[in-house]
Amino acid sequence: MDQTVLRPIMRDVQVMPIAGDALVVRRDGRTLLDRAALSIAHGAGVTVIIGPNGAGKSLLIRTLAGLVVPDLGRVTWAGSPPDRRRARRTGFVLQRPVMLRRTALDNLVYVLKLHGHNDAAGRVVAMQHLADHGLARVAATNAQRLSGGEQQRLALLRALVLEPEVLFLDEPAANLDPASTLAIERQLNVAVEKGLRVVLVTQDLAQARRLADEIVFLHKGRVLEKGEAHEFFRAPATAEARAFLAGDLVL
Ligand SMILES: Nc1ncnc2c1ncn2[C@@H]1O[C@H](COP(=O)(O)OP(=O)(O)O)[C@@H](O)[C@H]1O
Ligand SMILES: [Mg+2]
Repeated sequence: MDQTVLRPIMRDVQVMPIAGDALVVRRDGRTLLDRAALSIAHGAGVTVIIGPNGAGKSLLIRTLAGLVVPDLGRVTWAGSPPDRRRARRTGFVLQRPVMLRRTALDNLVYVLKLHGHNDAAGRVVAMQHLADHGLARVAATNAQRLSGGEQQRLALLRALVLEPEVLFLDEPAANLDPASTLAIERQLNVAVEKGLRVVLVTQDLAQARRLADEIVFLHKGRVLEKGEAHEFFRAPATAEARAFLAGDLVL
């Protein structure tokens, strides 16, 4: 891995489009991703991955993000395998955020510093982002004292301040109240308008309908459907997706 000189945001480095080709992940004798294949186009938008519990959604998103190396098949970012340098252009937000025990503002300044901003510049950028996303009033609050919803909004902002080309989110609103969930969705929409590609796993079909430009339907480790969201919800092509949307237990 090269030790590239830190440059603030590296806008010239590209990870999109992202492709997963015949991805196989096996653990303990079980095949968890079973030749899963999909591609995510270059450009702004929201790709939502849905599917039954245990379908492999978390594993798929982690594999696309370069955090899990598949046993077979391959992931490419803009045509070549994931690498740590370009990983700076990707962000990942988990279900439960881990914030540093310092102010909300300093949590943002900290990551900006890691990416080459000096303190003064980082504070300006961080404060602007907090204000843009309705969090200015908690700037000076210890991040670990914030509500769950505020912490998750801050975690999302911590990813967004680095201006990723693509942001991966694994059930970011799973434990949140409706108001916080809507605030998160608003943050995502703002970022998408500025050019971000979002790849989101959710259990919440209403959220999928609100956010998705395209849907990936995963079932038993395979991508059974991928397509334009409106079309998917109107007329899912597979019996498995129809059953899933109808709320039937899909095993
Ligand atoms: N590291 C691992 N070792 C063994 N089994 C795993 C591992 N990670 C995930 N699994 C299993 O793989 C399946 C898919 O997991 P996951 O991707 O978390 O599904 P989903 O997010 O769709 O609910 C589950 O049955 C889970 O128990
Ligand atoms: Mg999961």
